[in-house]
Amino acid sequence: MSSAGGNPIRVGLLGLGTVGGGVVEILHRHRRLIAERSGVDLTVVRAAVRSPRKKRTGAATDVPLTTDPAAILDAPDVDVVAELMGGIEPARAHILRALAQGKPVVTANKAVLAAHRTEIFRAAAKARSDVFFEAAVCGGIPIIRTLREGLASDRITELVGILNGTTNYILEAMRAGADYASALKDAQGLGFAEADPTLDVGGHDAADKLAILTHLAFGTVVSPDRIATEGITALTPDVLADAERLGYRVKLLGIARRAEGGLELRVHPTFIPAEHALASVPGAYNAVAVQSDALGTTLYQGAGAGALPTGSSVVADLIEAGRNLRAGLSGRVLATQTAGAPRVMSADKARSAYYVRLLVREQPGVLAAVTRIFAQNKVSLATVLQRERGAEPHPVPVVITTHRAPAGAMGRALRAIGKLEALQAPPHLVPIEELK
Ligand code: HSE
Repeated sequence: MSSAGGNPIRVGLLGLGTVGGGVVEILHRHRRLIAERSGVDLTVVRAAVRSPRKKRTGAATDVPLTTDPAAILDAPDVDVVAELMGGIEPARAHILRALAQGKPVVTANKAVLAAHRTEIFRAAAKARSDVFFEAAVCGGIPIIRTLREGLASDRITELVGILNGTTNYILEAMRAGADYASALKDAQGLGFAEADPTLDVGGHDAADKLAILTHLAFGTVVSPDRIATEGITALTPDVLADAERLGYRVKLLGIARRAEGGLELRVHPTFIPAEHALASVPGAYNAVAVQSDALGTTLYQGAGAGALPTGSSVVADLIEAGRNLRAGLSGRVLATQTAGAPRVMSADKARSAYYVRLLVREQPGVLAAVTRIFAQNKVSLATVLQRERGAEPHPVPVVITTHRAPAGAMGRALRAIGKLEALQAPPHLVPIEELK
């Protein structure tokens, strides 16, 4: 095929799994359209895979395979490397080696970028090459390009997102009456869940993505293990039902926000107003709401995983890499640290309103003891509701909402409440965000 820009850009794939399959399928369907529109004709020359005998379908069956990554990384007939294997090693070593050879790299690997992006960006700058990673965060949603380019002129004040599809799927299914275990199994069946689903349900996948987005949006370099992270495993149908009654939905959010005292950074299940756009993000979709000074609120929503959506982000990056190669440009990498970037504030200082669910023995004085503990910790209550009229000695649920208070004070109050003799089960605590 001829292209407006001359010879094809030769792509070598590291990995030909779900995302790699999506990439070759998109090129199979749209290669001519892409070449006509962008002037870049992309051709996949080969893929390095662990198991060449594995059954593949569609356009992936036509891709020449090798088990030797050097046949991609060091090959003179590969112009661009697409790292689609996931995991930290050997992906990190392969990315560094490709960059050192002057080959631009496109990666879909959030884990390696969350942990090693500073090293990778430095290596790209040193080699005067490029690294692109649109597919690493929120699959098909062009959030990386939006932050790097669309919002390049603006000062971002807040970024709040549903960054993990598996947990969104589980929460939506539980809201419709499914139990946690079967919802997780269904999500795994749909192919969104990580190989180790504790990365999804524990909030770690979302924390990886939030670390990358925070770097782009605020210039702040943070390692995901410094982000206060809580997953969805402690949520029960009772908590989800309370949220509905109070006019909220529960979503696992990644939050990055300029606040007094620094950058607030956290991942946790959150009550958000049922009428907010993020509350109706369906199934395994992702969404990111960005607040910026000049533009105000913008919302980006779509498929956060899956072969074709994620593949479309990889191919968009391949086109950009190809355009740069054609133009003889490179080095459009990110600064590894922006001067004046806000520092991450201590998680204890982050302020939020809270929902609290307690299961207590029905007896005089329990509520008085609970409210005294909140008062001692300077946490002001908004509503208190004993949901059933209990008869001694049966436990009754008490549902409390608070005004905004520092996380540290809430933690201290909950620890003290946890020691009350009348308490019948560990308390549930979920932050409430009255999002704009
Ligand atoms: N496991 C991720 C999710 C998909 O459920 O969103 C890839 O990032």
